[in-house]
This record gives sequence, structure tokens and C-alpha cells, in this order.
Amino acid sequence: MATAQKESWQSGLGFVLAASGSAVGLGNLWGFAYRASQGGGGTFVLLYVLIVMTICLPVLVAEMVLGRSTGRSPLLAPVQAAGRAWQPMGWLFVVVSCGILAFYGVLMGWTGQTLLHALQVGLPSSMGEAELFFAGISGGQSAIAGQAVSMLLTAVVVAAGVQAGIERLSRMALPMLFLLLVVLAVWASSLPGAAEGYRTFLLRWDSQELFNITTIRNAFTQAFFSVGTGIGAILAYSAYLNRKAPIPSEAVAIVGLDTAVGLLAGLLTFPVVISFGLGDAVSGSTIGTIFLSLPTGLGSIGLTGRIVAVTFFSLAYLAAITSSVSLLEVPVAALMDRCNWSRRNAAWVSAAVIFVVGLPAATDLNVLGTMDDLFGGVLLIAGGLLIAVLMGWFASRSFLEDLKNSGITPPARAGIILFFLRWVSPLVIAAGLLISVVDLIGKWTYVPR
Ligand code: PFF
Repeated sequence: MATAQKESWQSGLGFVLAASGSAVGLGNLWGFAYRASQGGGGTFVLLYVLIVMTICLPVLVAEMVLGRSTGRSPLLAPVQAAGRAWQPMGWLFVVVSCGILAFYGVLMGWTGQTLLHALQVGLPSSMGEAELFFAGISGGQSAIAGQAVSMLLTAVVVAAGVQAGIERLSRMALPMLFLLLVVLAVWASSLPGAAEGYRTFLLRWDSQELFNITTIRNAFTQAFFSVGTGIGAILAYSAYLNRKAPIPSEAVAIVGLDTAVGLLAGLLTFPVVISFGLGDAVSGSTIGTIFLSLPTGLGSIGLTGRIVAVTFFSLAYLAAITSSVSLLEVPVAALMDRCNWSRRNAAWVSAAVIFVVGLPAATDLNVLGTMDDLFGGVLLIAGGLLIAVLMGWFASRSFLEDLKNSGITPPARAGIILFFLRWVSPLVIAAGLLISVVDLIGKWTYVPR
């Protein structure tokens, strides 16, 4: 029983922008910089690009085909494709997307608060002042208020529908975000420490890092989280695709845009970090990095710095909301598909529940970090593994048929993608998952002496 009146994208470009909006998010802007600076440097970047191209890309194509060929929500698509035994996979999608959105809403709240502060009051003049400010926004009422506003805005967009809400937002936000980021990266190239910034973080090569378990885990997590494949968000979007959409080239466009934004963000943050001597602050800290070091560095150069900060945090908020709407679309599509709820009711109820689930993360940084590790670092990758196995082995015929019926993908290309899905992606993802779990257990059980 497919949904009665199916929504659809207005155009192929609209879909690509919306899916790229899902991929491009806070993960590109802070995750890339902080993970690259944790020791991997250029080695991390290379590993990241390799994983994206050989592992995430085929999984992304598979996720898109799963959505389009079944036309169902992430909750029911696996069942429709391969039978009832796959129902748990549908639940995994719903639980993980809600789990990620629960803490993502909190991070959006911090971003919004930092933006408002830069706009109304100004930037901190020292790291100490920045820490004080950050302590204020990352706990208590302030964090909850920021999270509430972010969930509210996300629900407004999703409730408005695929074309009038999600597509319209993405068409406006993505080009603007890209343009602003290019401008900021060009500005950063004029900073005195720019060349050293590029060298230290992006170009530094250390082949030992290729075997460093933390670097591998970082590259894996960053690749999956950033592309955002593995939890059904792109699947939900793809259910609204038409039969003729050229899925493989659209997937390449999405992944290309996402990687470009990650690199551009690096071209902005690394020169800033080096110019203002903030290297230790960045690699030593975790989630709060960008909220501490960037404003502090920019605060030391007066009005220009304030303009750059306002621009950066505005574009970060835009990037975040195009991601959060895709996460909310997962439970919303599920409620519409399974329970026949209206889009509006599904959006508001889901957003309210996710807001409540995110409250512990809003008030405790450790909870937030653990949720990030668990949902973003392990379960998202596990979802990617299941997608590869499902489409590569259990629904491979409909996979090939769907691509063939679009009339655009040559059979040979579809065959190559299937080969990767069967033989490369599952093995590498399983190994990456194992490494992630081992590294995480080590982190959770580590007792400092
Ligand atoms: N890709 C987003 C980011 O980099 O911030 C986060 C995300 C969005 C993850 C959507 C997963 C997802 F389904």
C-alpha cells in the first residue's frame, strides 16, 4: 500500500540541492577541521577521500535506489525490497536519525547563539572570555532555548512539504552557503599564516598515520557522517524521485559538493587557526572547537573579524538546517507511510519527541559526546553496511532493474557499482566498524592516571 498522493521534487536540480543540503552540514564545518587536526593531516584527508569515493558512493547509490524503487519511507522500504526479515533495518533508520537529530539540534542551538552574540555584542577578546561564553551557551536554559528554536524551524520547513519546504529552502541556502564559503576561504588565504596552515593540516604527509587506528576511525566516521548515508535520510528523499532521474551521476554530484565544502571549510579554518596561534586549542578539544577558537581568533582583528564571524556562523546555520530537515524527514515519512498521518502532524509530533530526547545532550556535554560517538560513529556506519548487503545481495535484481529502467545508466556502469556493493563496501565497512567499536571501547574505558 503505497502512500496515496505521492509528493515529488520539482526538478532534478532541486533534489540534488536538497540531498547535498543533507550532506553539507555542521559535520563539514567543524568535524572536518577538528578531525584533520587530530594528527592525521593530509593522510587523514587522503583516507577520507578514498573512503568517500570507493565506499560511501556505492552505498549512497544503493540507498537512493532503495528509496526510488520501493517508493516507501525508510521504515518500510527494506521490507518492501527484501521481506519482513528486514524490518529491524527500518527501525534502525528511524532510531538513528532521531538520535542524531536529538544532539544535532543542540549543536544548531550553539551555532545560532554564537551568531546572535557576534551580531549583537561582539567577539571574545581572549580564550578565557570565549570559554566563559561557551560555558553559558552549552548548558542550561540557553542551550535548551537554542535547541528549541532549531527544532521549531526544522519542523516548520518539513511540515511545509517536499517542494514548498525542503526544496525551496535548499535552492536558496546551498548556492548562498557555497558562495560565502568561497569568499571566506579567499579572505583566509591572505592571512599571514595561510601557507603554514595549509601545510600543517592539509598537506602534511605521515604514512604511519595510515595505520593509526584513531585516524582510520576519524576518517571513517567523518566520511559517513558527512555524506550522511546509512540512516535513511537520502532514502526518504529518493522516494520522491522520478523514474528517469540519473541516480549515479546525481550521487557523484552530491558527494562532490559535500567534499568540496569540507575542503573549503579547511581552507578557511586552518589559516585562521595558525595565524592566531590556536593549533593546540583546536586539536586538544572536541565538539566545542569552532565555538571557542574561531571567534577568539577573529576577535583579535576588529571589525573585519566580526564580519567574517557573522558570515561564517550564518552559513553554518544554513548548512545545519538543510541537514536537520533531512533527518526529521525520516520519522515523518515513516509516520505518513505506516500510520497514514498527515505531514504536518507527523512533523510536529516527531520534532517535539526528538526535542525531549535531546534535552540530556543540551544540559550535559558528556551525553552529547556519547550520542555523537554512538549514533554518528557506530550506528550510522552499521546502517551503511546493511544497505550494502541488502542491495548488493538480497535485492540486487531490483537494484539493476531500477537503474536500467531509468534509461540513463549504462548496464556496464550499473554492474560496476553492484560489484563494489557486493565485494568492496561490505568488507571495508565491516572492518571500519570493528575498528570504530574497538577504538570507542578503548576511549570509554580509558582511565587517566
Ligand atoms: N551530513 C550532515 C553533516 O555533515 O553535518 C549530518 C547528517 C545529515 C548526517 C543527515 C546524517 C544524515 F542523514
